[in-house]
Amino acid sequence: MSTFAFHTYGCQMNVRESEAAAKALLDAGHTEAPDEASADIIIVNSCSVRGKAEDKALGKLGLLCATKRERPGRVVGLMGCMAQRMGKEIFKKIPLLDFAIGTRCADRVAPAVEAALQGRTTLALTDLHERPDAPSGHVYGDGFSAFVTILLGCNRRCTYCIVPDVRGDEWSRPARDVIAEVRELAAHGVKEVTLLGQSIMNYGLRTPAFDEQDPPSPGGYTLPFPRLLEAVAAIDGIERIRFTSGHPSGVTDELIRLYREEPKLCHHLHLPVQSGSTEVLSRMRRGYTRERYLEAIQKLRDAVPDIAITTDVIVGFPGETEADFEATRTLMAAAKFDNAFIFKYSPRPGTVSATWEDDISDAEKARRNQILLGDQDVRGAQQNQALVGQTVEVLAEGPSLRNKARWSGRTSSNKIVIFTPPEGIRPGDLVKLTITKAAPQTLYTE
Ligand code: 5AD
Ligand code: SF4
Repeated sequence: MSTFAFHTYGCQMNVRESEAAAKALLDAGHTEAPDEASADIIIVNSCSVRGKAEDKALGKLGLLCATKRERPGRVVGLMGCMAQRMGKEIFKKIPLLDFAIGTRCADRVAPAVEAALQGRTTLALTDLHERPDAPSGHVYGDGFSAFVTILLGCNRRCTYCIVPDVRGDEWSRPARDVIAEVRELAAHGVKEVTLLGQSIMNYGLRTPAFDEQDPPSPGGYTLPFPRLLEAVAAIDGIERIRFTSGHPSGVTDELIRLYREEPKLCHHLHLPVQSGSTEVLSRMRRGYTRERYLEAIQKLRDAVPDIAITTDVIVGFPGETEADFEATRTLMAAAKFDNAFIFKYSPRPGTVSATWEDDISDAEKARRNQILLGDQDVRGAQQNQALVGQTVEVLAEGPSLRNKARWSGRTSSNKIVIFTPPEGIRPGDLVKLTITKAAPQTLYTE
């Protein structure tokens, strides 16, 4: 039997799919390699969201395939969004590649590995209008935190985004399946689950493409999203629930009530804003205005004062003027984000905005990016400073990477805390700690 390693780019959805594929390889008798260099089988799970993410994966695949000269039996495979997007083209760019497996079919990876070990190549893509299979199987170790995919695909069709083209039509998993999966996780000692979906608050909305082929039974009932959160919270052993990513349309009174009343629901929301200019938002086809977005988070903060809100922003979208950019800056200040991921616009083949001129120069995108990052650093530091002296509940993760004598963990609001481990502590324990020092990205105890 052979050893395997995964190299995963992109979002948590990909992390989850790599894990499901790893579970299938373990079941087939392979073992996880101690490191990538020694692995007999290497699988790159790829992201197509920006050109740079694809370039990195292509570079990585090139290097990996070059190692086949010294190690002819080595298997190098590709899965995920880039495989789905490029299809057979990928074999022209990377001729020594053993397989390319698209999205929503992590279960095809193990058979492709077997074929590769026998010298055959595999290309497997998903029909993006078919009802997909959710990634199945978890690798149980002493992990206390797990991802659970509840919504596959995306119907939103923002003009810049490739996700609908690589992950297909939106489909909610039956609630029964989600609950069964979380129960099994809890039985294996998992305490924290993060529910995943590209536009997760659409969970449980009827998906026209599947209505006819997916009668409520035996296909399975869904629930409105807040009801699903409650059902997951009712599972014994689960202590914390997170979910990602949000959209302002899903910030309903129902959801806000849950944040107040359901102690297991973590006080963190990732709510990508993308731009602070209503004009740009409309060309992005985001479905909200600047005011509507700010209103949603004001409601949240009024009801749940300690909630942390994080976001994604794109700078340099086609036609983004200096005034549009300033609007993003002022929105970020008004929203008081706890963290923000800033991306330089990257035209993606086949998207609507890729037909518009990419008229903001790279240097200007970089300048806008730097300004927002600088603002966010100052803001993050100030907001974390306000937590000094407060006592927070932290889910202990284990020894910190930099200093093994200290441990790291996360607050409900998803902030990292570095602390001295109390006697007898184990990963997954909840501990109460008083914050004594703050940096822009991290909190510390004495
Ligand atoms: N260019 C730059 N950033 C993008 N994102 C999505 N598509 C693009 C693109 N074409 C960003 C968005 C999204 C995050 C996952 O990636 O901010 O929220
Ligand atoms: Fe990247 Fe989007 Fe695919 Fe996730 S879904 S891997 S972010 S392209």
